[in-house]
Amino acid sequence: MHRRLEGRVVIATHNAGKLREMRELLAPHGVECVSAGELGLAEPDETGDTFIANALIKARAASATAKLPAFADDSGLCVESLGGAPGIHSARWAREAGDYPSTMALIETRLQERGCLAPDTRRAHFVSALAIAWPDGHTEIFEDRVDGVLVNPPRGTAGFGYDPMFLPDGHDRTFGEMSAEEKHGLPADGSRALSHRARAFQALEKACLG
Ligand code: IMP
Repeated sequence: MHRRLEGRVVIATHNAGKLREMRELLAPHGVECVSAGELGLAEPDETGDTFIANALIKARAASATAKLPAFADDSGLCVESLGGAPGIHSARWAREAGDYPSTMALIETRLQERGCLAPDTRRAHFVSALAIAWPDGHTEIFEDRVDGVLVNPPRGTAGFGYDPMFLPDGHDRTFGEMSAEEKHGLPADGSRALSHRARAFQALEKACLG
């Protein structure tokens, strides 16, 4: 039995790009969003070994401290020829490389070292796991993905993170070249959204906001 998400909800992220996307997704449902940053909540260590485990760690920690339902996302880019890396370590790779242009250059170097120049050797997908945790311990989990290829050089200045190098299947512009609406908007006719987070959100919406 799914539980309805309503009232005041903590968005358990300190990432400004993700916070903006989540707020845009929740706004039409009249859910009042307050961010973990605004509440001064500490960021828990992401010690899980899956996207879902890490989303649950963040949602549970924020909910327990704020005594409110908390909504968390864990996401990342999985590059098939790199054994799924950076995967759950996508944010860590960027911290260690210093910025996203350097992180994308590092991925490109790793691909070229393996001779991955043809598009079919440059397959990648973004994954988004969404978790909601309530103070009484109830949780809800949703996960989805978007598949595509990595382009070189990266293109576009929209979005955030690895967006400029990710070309979703069936499109000729990277996420970095798409508007926010195109990347993570929810089609009014109920058809499948494009981004991993919007797709996972569609499932959440049906189960917890309908
Ligand atoms: P975390 O979920 O906070 O651990 O971080 C996820 C990492 O994956 C961050 O480094 C993001 O930049 C990256 N990432 C997640 N979703 C997207 C996206 O939609 N576009 C680009 N990068 C993303």
